[in-house]
Amino acid sequence: MSERTLVLIKPDGVARGLVGEVLGRIERKGFVLVAMELRTLDRATAEAHYGEHADKPFFADLVDFITGGPLVAALIEGPDAIVQWRNMMGATNPVNAAQGTIRGDLATEMQNNVTHGSDSPQSAAREVALFFPGLA
Ligand code: RTP
Ligand code: MG
Repeated sequence: MSERTLVLIKPDGVARGLVGEVLGRIERKGFVLVAMELRTLDRATAEAHYGEHADKPFFADLVDFITGGPLVAALIEGPDAIVQWRNMMGATNPVNAAQGTIRGDLATEMQNNVTHGSDSPQSAAREVALFFPGLA
């Protein structure tokens, strides 16, 4: 089923010059780019985006990290885009991410793991509304 999902190239990915690498993988995979923006998140948006983690010990560090520089937010579309994009990213902790995935190939640290992807249709709907309200 064709669906849309939110992609973030996190500030570490932008700072390391990996925007082209990540977008190239998305394009070669066959997804359609629906919308894309370079922006620096304010804390309120970051806290809303990662609200599910508000009570975790890493939450303050995560908000500092995700607001710490420009990121790329993109809306992509394709068959089963939510699961397929999560598969392309690999496991959250690069230690566990398979080679061939973005985190397996390009990251070494749990927090600085280059990309984000919505983890369910409900998350995708919420995140698209947060980042691209005109397209929700
Ligand atoms: P994301 O939401 O960014 O796509 O990542 P995910 O679903 O694979 O992982 P999630 O559990 O939602 O964690 C969100 C992000 O928080 C950072 N994190 N740090 N230090 C830690 O223990 C820790 N755990 C998570 C990572 O940047 C992770 O992607
Ligand atoms: Mg997540």
